[in-house]
Amino acid sequence: MGNTSLIRLEDIGMTYKIGDIPYEALKGICLNINNGEFISIMGASGSGKSTLMNILGCLDKPTSGSYFLEDRDVSDLTSDELAEIRNKKIGFVFQGFNLVQRLTLIENVMLPLYYSGFHSKEAEYMASETLKLVNLYEKGNKFPNQISGGEQQVVAIARAIVNDAPMIIADEPTGNLDSVRGSDVMNLFLKINAERGSTIILVTHDKNIADYGRRLVTMRDGAIIS
Ligand SMILES: Nc1ncnc2c1ncn2[C@@H]1O[C@H](COP(=O)(O)OP(=O)(O)O)[C@@H](O)[C@H]1O
Ligand SMILES: [Mg+2]
Repeated sequence: MGNTSLIRLEDIGMTYKIGDIPYEALKGICLNINNGEFISIMGASGSGKSTLMNILGCLDKPTSGSYFLEDRDVSDLTSDELAEIRNKKIGFVFQGFNLVQRLTLIENVMLPLYYSGFHSKEAEYMASETLKLVNLYEKGNKFPNQISGGEQQVVAIARAIVNDAPMIIADEPTGNLDSVRGSDVMNLFLKINAERGSTIILVTHDKNIADYGRRLVTMRDGAIIS
């Protein structure tokens, strides 16, 4: 798997219109990411990191350029086709955990499996195995507000990997955590990358967090500068 292409971005641009005024949030982004990489994207606030992540995550389409995911051009798919790719290929982790408060932890982890059409028994088994992997199996019947913020993010990571998606996109996943819990979360990403071979694309403005990645990309003003 090591050297097969997962992502190829060719001259990606993203221009937002604020009223009549165009704003170039991304300018000529070229980036290749191979299967199994752990890559950190760093840059100041406003440099375009989230805009790039939304494109990588097929949540948004670029206004120019091409995006190849597993050698398939996804720059111009319909929103249904993009939703299917998101479901099969991509796990998302955000700064704010985004767990469903009225569902138990295991039910939260099962959610993406429902969307993929798994039966509940099978979904429950897969979610249990994933909670074991992240060491939260015993707490599976608790609710999000009964565990710590660090644990909530670990559950969100379990939810992101339960589908066995080849890529995990994490936008400031430690932004709401103190440094101890932040390093727990980062060590979990390292483990998932090493043991499951998942490609991890991490966005952060924090150098200490970025250093967990094996490759560092720096952005400034909508461009990659190193
Ligand atoms: N939906 C949007 N509409 C207009 N401008 C946006 C939108 N999203 C982001 N921007 C602008 O694009 C630039 C990059 O934003 P963003 O990608 O969120 O940066 P970062 O994640 O690095 O902080 C910022 O100047 C931001 O104000
Ligand atoms: Mg951002």
